[in-house]
Amino acid sequence: MKAAVIGTGSMGRNHARLYADIEGVELVAVADVSQDAKGVADKYGCRFYTGHKEMIETEKPDIVSVCVPTSLHYEVSKFVIEKGVNLLIEKPIASRVEEAEELVELAKKAKVKLAVGHIERFNPAVQRLKKLIDEGKLGNVTSILARRVGLYPPRIRDANVIIDIAVHDIDVFNYLLGKEPSKVFSCAGKALINDREDYADIFLK
Ligand SMILES: NC(=O)c1ccc[n+]([C@@H]2O[C@H](COP(=O)([O-])OP(=O)(O)OC[C@H]3O[C@@H](n4cnc5c(N)ncnc54)[C@H](O)[C@@H]3O)[C@@H](O)[C@H]2O)c1
Repeated sequence: MKAAVIGTGSMGRNHARLYADIEGVELVAVADVSQDAKGVADKYGCRFYTGHKEMIETEKPDIVSVCVPTSLHYEVSKFVIEKGVNLLIEKPIASRVEEAEELVELAKKAKVKLAVGHIERFNPAVQRLKKLIDEGKLGNVTSILARRVGLYPPRIRDANVIIDIAVHDIDVFNYLLGKEPSKVFSCAGKALINDREDYADIFLK
C-alpha cells in the first residue's frame, strides 16, 4: 500500500514515521508548504512536495493522512476524496459541522475510506475502560466526567478549545457508551485568547 502525508508538522511527522514503519506500507511522499519539512522526506527516503495536489496526482497513493492545520482540513480533504484516495484526517475532522458532514457524504459517494485521528480510542487505558463497561463490571454508568486544564498549545491558532481539545473527550464518551448525546448544554468563553474560545463547560445528556 502506498501512503503519503500532507502537512508534516508536529502531528504529521508521527504519521510519516508510522507509515514508514508499518509492514506492507510504503511511505512514498510527504507534502508541506514549508521547505523545512523536507527533512522529514529525507529521513524516510521518500519524495517531498510543496503542493499536495501535485503530490497526489503524481504519486497516486492508496492512502493519505491530512495533518494540516484544522482550518484547512475541509479544502485539502475534499481534494483528496475527489481524487478517489482513502484518507485519515487528523482530529477534528473539520472546522465546522457542515464541512464535516459534507466530507462524510463525499467520501461515501466516492467510495473512499475516511477515518478521523481520534487517537484516544487507542489509548490502552481507554480500551480497558471500554472492556470493563461492556462486560458490565462497572454496573450501569450514569455519569462520566472529563476535566482538562492546561496551557493552550501555542501552535494551534485556528481552532477553539472545543473543537481542538474537547473533541477528544466527547469522542471517548461516545466510544465508551456506544452512543451519541441527545442534548448538549454548553457555555464557553475567552479568558486569555481574544479571537476564540479558550474555556468551555459542556454538559452532554
Ligand atoms: N490526534 C491528536 O491528538 C492531535 C495532536 C496534535 C494535533 N492534532 C491535529 O493535527 C493537525 C495539525 O496540527 P499540528 O499540531 O501538527 O500543527 P503544525 O502547525 O505543527 O503542523 C501543520 C503543518 O501543516 C503545514 N501546512 C500548512 N498549510 C499546508 C498546506 N496547504 N499544504 C501542506 N502543508 C501545509 C505547515 O507548514 C505545518 O508543517 C491539527 O488539525 C490538529 O488538531 C491532533
